[in-house]
Amino acid sequence: NAIDSGKVKWSSPSNIALVKYWGKREHQIPENPSISFTLSNCKTVTEVTFTKKESDSYSFEVYFEGEKNEAFKPKIQTFFERIEVYVPFIKDYHFKIETSNTFPHSSGIASSASGMSAIALCLMSVEEKLTEIMMSKDYFNKKASFLARLGSGSACRSIEGELVVWGQNKSTESSDLYGIKFDGEVHPNFKNYQDTILLVDKGEKQVSSTVGHQLMYGHPFAHQRFEQAHENLANLKAILASGDQKAFINIIESEALTLHAMMMTSMPYFILMKPNTLQIINKIWNYRNENDSNICFTLDAGANVHVLYPEIEKESVLEFIKNDLAAYCQNGHFITDHAGNGAELI
Ligand code: PMV
Repeated sequence: NAIDSGKVKWSSPSNIALVKYWGKREHQIPENPSISFTLSNCKTVTEVTFTKKESDSYSFEVYFEGEKNEAFKPKIQTFFERIEVYVPFIKDYHFKIETSNTFPHSSGIASSASGMSAIALCLMSVEEKLTEIMMSKDYFNKKASFLARLGSGSACRSIEGELVVWGQNKSTESSDLYGIKFDGEVHPNFKNYQDTILLVDKGEKQVSSTVGHQLMYGHPFAHQRFEQAHENLANLKAILASGDQKAFINIIESEALTLHAMMMTSMPYFILMKPNTLQIINKIWNYRNENDSNICFTLDAGANVHVLYPEIEKESVLEFIKNDLAAYCQNGHFITDHAGNGAELI
């Protein structure tokens, strides 16, 4: 490689799954397909400075929010080991990785999706610079998503937006190896969908998603669950086209509760929801009934609640959140976000 040094910078968002990925095989291959809304405000901004060095082992340093960070290094080391065969130049350069999140750290928001996709995109830009070949956008995005998947499975759904599918299935164009922009029709009811994240518990989760995925091996309901995800995705595809909001809600909330039901029925079993998670879910159900609203909730692998609602309800739902739901959040803290178009080169 003729180039001695350079700099690249990307911002990459988080995403929220509608049909959940829970259970994987070797090499981060998902056991079932998933689909997510890419978010917009919750993102990671990462700058990578690369400098030529002797080609022996990996060399990188990490700065998080301006300060040297050692905690992320093992994860990045593992990531580099997994992707080296696909980006062999990573041994020829020293990387300074400077990263920050737009959302408060230790908010319980999974930053692995935005963080890993941002590094993957930076490495793709480095590859483009070193080879001096302009890649097609399609190839660039697919390979970035492929690399991101090897960092954190769900990270492969953060490259594009507003809806991304990951995992082979019969209903949509897709792959187990990377995420693809959802190819189906989307009714205006589901455009620019809103997601307000209620920060119920900002602490470190007791069970990591890595362990959670592993517990799907030998899980008594694993087979049925993986089948159900295929069915839910097929049904959701039709619903997204028709604009049927009640049917949308049924799938989205069932998916969230099923994800947590898998945790509660694994061995060992565990519960990531907190009392306030349940308080909020009940409040959402009451509000929906009383106001003929299309608000619903979904959950990640944690206690926080994602409140999903159509754009036309934005004003009234935000009032409801401020007046009624914020009380169940840690320090009254919530983050308003909405579906977005994916990562951006800076
Ligand atoms: O990407 P991981 O390995 O942290 O798994 C995330 C899994 C869920 O967030 C619970 C669901 C999903 O599809 O994003």
